[in-house]
Amino acid sequence: MAKTQLKPHAIIFPVPYQGHINPCVNLAIKLASKGFAITFVHFEFVHRMLSESQHTNTNSEIDFFSEARNSGLDIRYTTIDDGFPLEFNRLNNFEEFWTSLLQDFPARVDEFIGKILQSEHSMVSFLIVDTFFSWSPKIAKKYNIVNISFFTQPALVYSIGYHLDILRENGHYPLKENVVEEINYIPGVRSISTKELMHYLKEGEIQTLQHEVSTRAFQEVKKADFVLHNTVQELESGTLDDLNKKQPNYAIGPISNFLTKINVTKSLWSESDCTKWLESKPLNSVLYVSFGSLAQTNKHVIQEIAHGLLLSQVNFIWVVRENIVKSDCINILPDGFKDLIGDKGLIIPWCNQIMVLSSAAVGGFLTHCGWNSTIESIWCSTPMICYPIEYDQHAVSKLVVDDWKIGINLYDGDLIHRDEAAEKIRNLMTGTGSLGLKQEIEKLKNVLHKAIEKDGSSERNFDRFVEDLKAKVY
Ligand code: UDX
Repeated sequence: MAKTQLKPHAIIFPVPYQGHINPCVNLAIKLASKGFAITFVHFEFVHRMLSESQHTNTNSEIDFFSEARNSGLDIRYTTIDDGFPLEFNRLNNFEEFWTSLLQDFPARVDEFIGKILQSEHSMVSFLIVDTFFSWSPKIAKKYNIVNISFFTQPALVYSIGYHLDILRENGHYPLKENVVEEINYIPGVRSISTKELMHYLKEGEIQTLQHEVSTRAFQEVKKADFVLHNTVQELESGTLDDLNKKQPNYAIGPISNFLTKINVTKSLWSESDCTKWLESKPLNSVLYVSFGSLAQTNKHVIQEIAHGLLLSQVNFIWVVRENIVKSDCINILPDGFKDLIGDKGLIIPWCNQIMVLSSAAVGGFLTHCGWNSTIESIWCSTPMICYPIEYDQHAVSKLVVDDWKIGINLYDGDLIHRDEAAEKIRNLMTGTGSLGLKQEIEKLKNVLHKAIEKDGSSERNFDRFVEDLKAKVY
């Protein structure tokens, strides 16, 4: 059969964390709806977590993309073994897990892709891999397939990672502890403080695996044929324009959970249903509090936030994940906290975040500034209180607070105090100070919604990407 008669086929590999799985699944659906065949690959342990979150038999051959296929999309679903037992706790054993992902896993992927290529009838032409998997250039080269990197964080973070050599020349990488300076020489990046750079660039982090994984990723992504970004041109135009001079970059966001009505299980944990409780609350009266799926803090921070919420007297939903603090502490909330809050607050282990943010009762979001949470908050026009913890979150918080003026900052290291927390919460939820934030976030919400309309910037970028891709392959 001639090459051009075959359907373009992409294999998609997400990094196995919630904040990466969500955009990758949504990207798979988007590509399939544009006529691509997709093979979507989850880790076996992710498959098991997804099954458990649905309370289904973990041994079942459940296919999370069956509804997508019933809707006419060509998405095959498969899993890969990472070499660890399913029960192995990959979050608590980050070092061991990622050492293996860097060292042993590439050989497994190599073999896995080799098998897919032998068995597939349609032409596998593209590998779409999360940027933090740095093995993709080597494997794409070996099998002569196009290497597409998908960056699920803001272009600002990509640009900082891309320009580590310039940071090094200026003495800002590795980042010295306690040195606070403005950086205004990164091409396409507005002035940014050293405090807002990713935590893994600090001098004390150089020996860590987090540093190794991230810097290797930023090095290897330079070899990608195309880079897709889960951001929007209008939000980060200067940064994206500069990156485009170096590599074909495409801002195609928001690639988020609100994008599609097709039901594909993505949640790694069971979701508590907050609908009835939310319906009982007045318009814009509820603060939603969540630190995403990965970030960990300490008991002091949790306790000060808890007291801050009580003192503020606002209604709240708080996602207190099982592993939200680093130690094995069991009682992290103040004694008797649940009795004290009565019906004013709901404490849950996990929820459907986009449903909560979409509720008319929710008027604010106290967030760690994960990129997905930030995009979802903008999409729902919900102003933010920022408490960034690690990874890219300080850089995202800078975008939210300084550049876009759609949120306020609560962060001052671990020195968070309940009175300040209460004051900021009250200010956001009831004060006149939040009016400006609401106006600005409404504008950005319109930008996001427009971007994915037919003639919107992301839609045009997506079409341009597909054209460029076809030109490269055929
Ligand atoms: C991680 C990093 O921590 C973050 O900084 C980076 O930008 C992306 O990868 P995470 O911490 O999980 O992600 O945060 P975030 O990017 O906000 O993603 C969390 C996702 O989980 C969101 O899509 C959110 O909707 C979802 N979520 C969160 C739920 O569905 N339910 C919840 O209760 C909480």
